[in-house]
Amino acid sequence: MARSLASAAAAPAVIILAAGQGKRMKSPLPKVLHRVAGRPMILHILAAVMQSRPEANIAVVVGHGRDEVERVVRESAIVPVEQLAFILQDEQRGTGHAARCAMDSPWGAAVVRSKAPVLVLPGDLPLLPVALISQMCEGLGRSATLRLLTTELSNPTGYGRVLRRGKSGPVLRIVEERDAKPREKEIREVATSIYFFQGSFLKSALSRLSNKNSQSEYYLTDVVEQAARKARSGAGGIEVLMWSESGDLRGVNDPWELAEAGEMLNQRIIRRWALEGVRFDSPRSTWVESTVRLACGVEVQPNVILRGNTTVAEGAVIKAGSVIEDSAIGARSQVGPYAHLRPGSEVGEASKIGNFVELKKARIGSKTSIAHLSYLGDAEVGSRVNIGCGFVTCNYDGKSKHVTRIEDDAFVGSDCQAVAPVTIGRGSYIASGSTITKDVEPEALAFARSRQVNKAGYARRYKGST
Ligand code: UD1
Ligand code: CA
Repeated sequence: MARSLASAAAAPAVIILAAGQGKRMKSPLPKVLHRVAGRPMILHILAAVMQSRPEANIAVVVGHGRDEVERVVRESAIVPVEQLAFILQDEQRGTGHAARCAMDSPWGAAVVRSKAPVLVLPGDLPLLPVALISQMCEGLGRSATLRLLTTELSNPTGYGRVLRRGKSGPVLRIVEERDAKPREKEIREVATSIYFFQGSFLKSALSRLSNKNSQSEYYLTDVVEQAARKARSGAGGIEVLMWSESGDLRGVNDPWELAEAGEMLNQRIIRRWALEGVRFDSPRSTWVESTVRLACGVEVQPNVILRGNTTVAEGAVIKAGSVIEDSAIGARSQVGPYAHLRPGSEVGEASKIGNFVELKKARIGSKTSIAHLSYLGDAEVGSRVNIGCGFVTCNYDGKSKHVTRIEDDAFVGSDCQAVAPVTIGRGSYIASGSTITKDVEPEALAFARSRQVNKAGYARRYKGST
């Protein structure tokens, strides 16, 4: 009991600033919902927080597009409902105002009462590593009012600069790019919008912020100056965590930064899988979303895209140019080159899905071959089935979708169509060029094409020659 109380007291409160419109994105989608490696930015942040501090008590400050943001966060189920609150910031009056909305709410009052420390994170830093959050959340020194995360950038344009006394003395304040004097703009140590606060200090400091600056906004960064003043009078201190890997702190403010963050995260994901035993021929041309799972011994050739809830089992080979979305590939199967597996497809073990084959909601058994130029939608295909070149399931009648079943050991010749709903029975044989409209019973041989007529000598007559 005593232990659980102690750990409850240590659980950090986390404020995620996610109310801004993100004007520079030039998109109606709220900024924090833009996807990086297939996942909305804010979910990357929440996942990292939960991994580092599973007991965290999280408030997401929402405003612009708040219903959508709330829905995405709730549906993700990354944060248990009892640890999650949404705080409305009606009008976006700056990062300081956003944090104040949280601290002045009943949620904030409970945080101050519980004496929990408060981690503040912006919603637009999708590359935050778990280790960074863990280091930020370590207990503050006895007299410290806040811990500030900074980093050095070779090009600090757009970021708030950290002003110190002398070159490397104590921190004095943060100055925003738009308010900085030319000399201050030369400073390369920047604020990252990540802070760890003593709760009561944060609450009172926010209530004293002013908006007398170039943007008439309440800047959260100005809280640092208050803490510095307090430190000088001996009443507290600022701890600084300087993060050397500045790439982790890349903010996403416009579509170009979104693309860059996406590339960075993609390379990290691929590296992680490579170290788990996945072989990539061309990491730079391959895209693997954060939700994909790959087994040891999988081989991925150039220009492959793996999306969503896709899994690939050991020894499978994904050949060049293939796109796989929300699908499962069994062990030792081969897919591609240039195959497209759309959502809900499953391929068993040691099967072959060849070039220019499209699957959609198609379940394929083991040791089945669909080697060339085919479309299978809403299909259930058994094991040891052979499907020749150019097979099409006619699954859509203009109103609804219908299922095609092809049972174990069936052989489907080239250039066949199955007009669904229809079943091709176990061990049956479909002659090439057949359009199957009626069920084929097991072991039957089906012809569904017109009979060939040969007329001797007619060719010459037909061409009008003598
Ligand atoms: C902010 C910092 C800057 C820092 C940079 C690092 C301030 C004033 N500036 O600038 O010092 O270098 O982050 O990435 O804090 N938001 C709200 N409500 C608002 C305004 C913003 O919720 O009224 C949210 C945004 O949705 C965003 C986050 O706060 O997720 C940061 O806002 P943004 O406008 O991107 O700040 P920057 O200009 O990047
Ligand atoms: Ca930003």
